[in-house]
Amino acid sequence: MTAVPTKPVFLTGASGALGRVLAKWLGDAGWTLVMTDIAPFPDPLPPRATFTKADLSDGVTILRLAEGCGAIVHLGGVSVERPFDEVIGPNIRGLYHIYEAARREKSRVIFASSNHAIGFHERTESLPADTQFLPDGFYGLSKAYGELMGRMYWFKHGVENVNLRIGSACPEPVNARMLASYLSYDDFSRLVVACVTADKTGSCVVWGASNNSRMTWWRDDARADIGWAPADSADPYAGQLAGKVSGDPVEERYMGGAFCSSGYSRAAFAPAGLFDNTGD
Ligand SMILES: NC(=O)c1ccc[n+]([C@@H]2O[C@H](COP(=O)([O-])OP(=O)(O)OC[C@H]3O[C@@H](n4cnc5c(N)ncnc54)[C@H](O)[C@@H]3O)[C@@H](O)[C@H]2O)c1
Repeated sequence: MTAVPTKPVFLTGASGALGRVLAKWLGDAGWTLVMTDIAPFPDPLPPRATFTKADLSDGVTILRLAEGCGAIVHLGGVSVERPFDEVIGPNIRGLYHIYEAARREKSRVIFASSNHAIGFHERTESLPADTQFLPDGFYGLSKAYGELMGRMYWFKHGVENVNLRIGSACPEPVNARMLASYLSYDDFSRLVVACVTADKTGSCVVWGASNNSRMTWWRDDARADIGWAPADSADPYAGQLAGKVSGDPVEERYMGGAFCSSGYSRAAFAPAGLFDNTGD
């Protein structure tokens, strides 16, 4: 049984898919939660939890809510590909408010980053956590910026942060890609608990995928340092999902899948690689 944190934990994006899962999991574990989201919280409030409806762009409210919190689990923001102007407020300015709050409160940030920060790496690669960012859209770009913001606040202000490069966190895998990228809700919840309760984290990255035998894409992260190992697996779904591919060559080539092919305007078979200028 993991110890209950002595200070409340600030949870943003509480009304979203993963926020609702965590609210229940952490509430059941006896944690005290300060929850927020721009959308109402749709479930019964967990014991010891408060909920305040707020926009991440409202820095004054975010700073006030974070007062006295020992960790900030930051899930809030735009979670799919959207135009630049829609992403920048919640995901860049909002994240700045989170980090300013963490600096003042000396709290640790657990940031829901994404595989879309590295989405244009090919699926044949095996990436260490310190690989280069290759965002697959404005959403992925905001996650890469968010990870870099964490690095800056660690080096400049000593704000600890764990950047979770989440694959596909959903009730169950639904296509062949997710046989690699699937992260079960239970593995995700245990990962967040490990991030909050670890003695120290510095500024680090953990790939967010379950123990899937097709997950050959990602390696060498901070999971052992924070004491997390995934327990679940997409493998039981392999039989039914192995042939469930899109037929889109861009989507199937890159780790980011449909986020890569969405709005893609190069020729479909353009050569990959940063320095390859033979494509269009
Ligand atoms: N679910 C996944 O597979 C996955 C994969 C990679 C990364 N992530 C990241 O994990 C986090 C949670 O994902 P999710 O699947 O629960 O997404 P979600 O969209 O269900 O939840 C995001 C929440 O953020 C809230 N939000 C949006 N704009 C806001 C604003 N301006 N102010 C305050 N709140 C705002 C939304 O109302 C929503 O409840 C997101 O940051 C997402 O980018 C999720």
